Amino acid sequence: MNLHQESMLKEGSLSNKVIWVTGGGTGLGKSMVKTFISLGAKVAISGRRFEKLEEAQKEISEDKIFPVVCDVRESGQVEKALNQIIEHFGTCNGLVNNAAGNFISPTERLSHRAFDIILDIVLKGSKNCTLSCGKYWIKNDIPGYVLNIVTTYASTGSGYVVPSAMAKAGVLVMTRSLAVEWAKYGQRHNAIAPGPFPTKGAWDRLFPKEMSEKVNLENRIPLKRMGEHMELTNLASYLMSDYSSYINGEVVTIDGGEWLQGAGQFNQMEAISKEEWDMLEKVIRSNQKKS
Ligand code: HXC
Ligand code: NAP
Repeated sequence: MNLHQESMLKEGSLSNKVIWVTGGGTGLGKSMVKTFISLGAKVAISGRRFEKLEEAQKEISEDKIFPVVCDVRESGQVEKALNQIIEHFGTCNGLVNNAAGNFISPTERLSHRAFDIILDIVLKGSKNCTLSCGKYWIKNDIPGYVLNIVTTYASTGSGYVVPSAMAKAGVLVMTRSLAVEWAKYGQRHNAIAPGPFPTKGAWDRLFPKEMSEKVNLENRIPLKRMGEHMELTNLASYLMSDYSSYINGEVVTIDGGEWLQGAGQFNQMEAISKEEWDMLEKVIRSNQKKS
């Protein structure tokens, strides 16, 4: 096994933490839950489908996981879920805003409802959970941590996922704003911007087989591979642990260099062969002499 496939932190690094992971029953959320539990945390997982939460609980830990059904778009459900978590574990001192909705589509094909659904899950959902937890922490003098899972296009924007890009950008701004405003209460707010990490939820909606047969995803990434879940969960564990106690308001990109490859104006020159470079060099040297 390679180092990046192993848990990075010491056993017990999260033993004083009760962490709520929204969307913790599937995909990256579930992977984070596994690692958090292995480091000693107690974890509440939420989502709309109880069967997914129950499955994750059975698979990972019957007693250290508390599953709670909650649609993050509804502030009433979020308040209720937080109260249930506090009642079950006695407290809650960490929140990972991981629940999301997304699918690729030309923007002009979206109905208002389709657009709003993504904004509501991602932006309003993250706001609902952060506001409920933040107020509870302030009232009870708890130094809580928030980790927001955003995307690299939260900073750059992206066509074909415009509602998601707008919502994630809002979540990133919330991260940076509250990192300053609520630091006086001992809170830290950070974010992770992942590149492609295969999950069923994301792949069904963003890279269906019919599309990935045409577009080679790995080629878009300088390291020529997708992320492995443990790479992300190690980073998330560090940011939720007291080892990162001086990191506040930061967004950490973990994408194998993908967004930079897209951003550099000449990066597509990777496709030019050695022979073509020999020819190009001759032409350019000759042009330089003339000018
Ligand atoms: C156009 C679509 C559509 C599509 C749905 N709609 N799919 N429009 N193209 N492909 C429209 C519907 O017609 C409807 O509008 C509206 O969207 C809501 O659809 P519903 O199915 O009724 O809603 P709901 O059941 O709540 O489902 C929400 C969802 C769904 C977001 C559409 O996919 C979901 O539950 N997703 C949760 C998980 C998820 O998305 N995971 C991926 C995260 S990955 P009308 O007007 O017809 O009523 C991610 C990674 C980013 O964020 C970066 C990767 C590198
Ligand atoms: P996923 O498995 O589809 O996870 C999404 C989760 O959100 C599901 O568990 C879903 O559960 C939950 N959810 C959706 N709508 C909800 C709602 N209204 N209320 C409560 N929960 C809701 O996808 P994933 O790939 O692991 O994504 C996890 C996070 O990583 C997301 O924030 C995503 O944007 C981010 N991300 C992923 C990638 C990637 O390559 N995978 C890249 C960049 C960023 P229910 O359906 O049961 O509610």
